[in-house]
Amino acid sequence: MVTDLAGSTRLGRMNNVLVVDDEPNVVAVVQEMLSSENYNIITAYSLAEAKSIIRRQNINLVLTDLLLGDGSGIDVLQEAHQFHPDSQVILMTGRPTIQNAVEVIKRGAYDYLVKPFALETVKMTLGRAAEKIRLEQENIKLRELMSFYQISEAMGSIIELDQLLNLILKTAIKEYESDVAAIFYTDEEIGLYLKSSIGLGDDEFYRMLTDHCYEISLQSISSSSALVINDPDIDFTWWERSIKSTMCQPFQAKGKILGTLVVVRTQNTHPFSHGQLAGLSLLSSKAATAVENSNLYEDLKKTYIATVEALANAVEARDSYTRGHTERVYLLACAIAEELEWSKKQLGDLKIGALLHDIGKIGVPDSILNKPGPLTPEEAEIMKNHPTTGAKMVESIEFLRPALPYILYHHERHDGTGYPLGLAGESIPLPGRLLAVGDTMDAITSDRPYRKGRALELAVEEIMRNSGTQFNPVVADACLSAYNKGKLNFLFP
Ligand SMILES: [Fe+2]
Repeated sequence: MVTDLAGSTRLGRMNNVLVVDDEPNVVAVVQEMLSSENYNIITAYSLAEAKSIIRRQNINLVLTDLLLGDGSGIDVLQEAHQFHPDSQVILMTGRPTIQNAVEVIKRGAYDYLVKPFALETVKMTLGRAAEKIRLEQENIKLRELMSFYQISEAMGSIIELDQLLNLILKTAIKEYESDVAAIFYTDEEIGLYLKSSIGLGDDEFYRMLTDHCYEISLQSISSSSALVINDPDIDFTWWERSIKSTMCQPFQAKGKILGTLVVVRTQNTHPFSHGQLAGLSLLSSKAATAVENSNLYEDLKKTYIATVEALANAVEARDSYTRGHTERVYLLACAIAEELEWSKKQLGDLKIGALLHDIGKIGVPDSILNKPGPLTPEEAEIMKNHPTTGAKMVESIEFLRPALPYILYHHERHDGTGYPLGLAGESIPLPGRLLAVGDTMDAITSDRPYRKGRALELAVEEIMRNSGTQFNPVVADACLSAYNKGKLNFLFP
């Protein structure tokens, strides 16, 4: 059974009331009695007809005779509760017994009316049942709002998309008492694919379940509507697990569908209700915001990196002997940082830092920068200003700030005789300790106008010989380790 979201949005304004009786006169009287009320009346004259209606459309209230020509009102009640768990059912009978009354209430009926009944009695009973539905839905909404508030809070502090999607999936599992939650993405080139999920294993049952979620996502996207499926076409049971109920909500941004959020019950036997679709819609809109923010952030990051590369190129363009220096320093430092097990975030900062580390050379005159021979003491002093000049250039630019420790500290030495601050040992920030090794490695192996570049092996020997004086021993050891693993060979292709 597939029902669209329209059924549940109507709920707030007008309840769908199914009246079932095998006596057409009774149906006509009830219809007449309720004609002035704010109900959408649907009629059925048999159990079979009632079942068919219940499976096809959203029903909020049911008023059914206990004895029908082809079955019992209790069958109507069970069918209504299976397909619309938040519906309320009222039984009617002309032959009341205590046993009947107890039986129907035990089965979950809202109330029990004895025929013939007064107009006011029917109106009041239906009114109370409608109020109960409204209050239950308010409760669901409140609970959902709490979860959404928590997600909104988290979205302010978490930037990683995978972490956010995981939080949304966890909330979907908890909030909808589901066993599986999945997010599918749709892409113009590769189509629909599973992006993230919780509760999906890798045995045959889960493969079938993944296909099921995929098919429902396709349906949901092609109809641009939310779906509740309480009787899937496939009947598959695997170690007492089967698909009991599924809800799927597409999510979109700027009018374009980005994907779907699907929740499935495989062990929880209660079907999802239409009242829950609105909540799932809010939750999936959080997924849309997360994806949108992440895309914007990635675009911004690409722009930043392009800007940084342009700045780095501006420096290199002036210094004819060091072409490609910054890129090699980055790759060298990166290989050493991986030995030191740096995080993804640290490696990202390293890229900006390594590319910009000599940006301050923009302030060094061409005559000094491109001098073929050794520098005079005065010229060397001017050259030594480049870390401070570079730091001043980037300190006020927020997105370049991670580069600051690389720019400022890459000429500090472990023994405290470096520049510009003369820091020693652990007081040199980690980026400075790392880049000092990467920078020197590249300087030794590169050709200069007055000498040829030396072999990689000799450069590593030089680093180890100066470990503990010029270089931090931990970083020097990591360099040796990267070399021994062959990770620095790209310098000599
Ligand atoms: Fe430098």
